Amino acid sequence: MKEQVILRDGRSVLVRAAHAGDGTGVVKLMRSVADERGYTLFEPEEMDAKAEAIAARVGASDRDELRLIARCGDGDDDVIGDLSIGTKNFRRIAHVAKLGMEIRHDYRGVGLGDAMMRMALAWAKAHPRVARVELQVFADNVPAIALYRKHGFVQEGRRRYYMRMGDRYLDDLIMAAFVKTP
Ligand SMILES: CC(C)(COP(=O)(O)OP(=O)(O)OC[C@H]1O[C@@H](n2cnc3c(N)ncnc32)[C@H](O)[C@@H]1OP(=O)(O)O)[C@@H](O)C(=O)NCCC(=O)NCCS
Repeated sequence: MKEQVILRDGRSVLVRAAHAGDGTGVVKLMRSVADERGYTLFEPEEMDAKAEAIAARVGASDRDELRLIARCGDGDDDVIGDLSIGTKNFRRIAHVAKLGMEIRHDYRGVGLGDAMMRMALAWAKAHPRVARVELQVFADNVPAIALYRKHGFVQEGRRRYYMRMGDRYLDDLIMAAFVKTP
């Protein structure tokens, strides 16, 4: 899976399945999103502790898992989008895939998330087993919820006080979309 995507502001980026050599770039992207202290489960320092393991997993996809990355160049600082979708489950829930994604701050709002989601759902649709794609999102993450709704995700549940940030608690939402009838 590979596509040259022209963003709304005219920039061109390559979206493709991740290779092993993308590990450092993916970790840098994840760290930059964590540094915003916003919509990640992990805090920046926790991210550092796991960086090596995360980098080693990049590019290790099999036919039940897709990791898409977006690049604006070939360097370790040039991974600007990351999306994982995959199913690695017991037979009874083998039609369920989980999805997570993040775009670097300076590439948001110009259609990259849209393009990566479209490609991920096409992968899910073509997969022989996957019917249901699900994700979790913090209840106040307006851009992400809008993106997911746009692509057919529907809220199924709300976990109250799911995340604690200092002395503040936040709810999260469980959302799901069907790419075929189960
Ligand atoms: C959520 C995120 C992935 C969206 O990616 P993006 O590349 O900025 O999104 P796009 O520019 O492709 O926009 C796609 C749709 O998302 C929605 N959207 C994006 N930014 C938005 C904003 N600031 N406010 C409201 N809706 C927004 C819109 O529905 C938009 O469709 P439209 O352009 O037709 O209006 C990105 O903001 C991000 O990585 N955020 C930080 C990490 C994160 O929250 N990850 C998700 C965790 S669950």
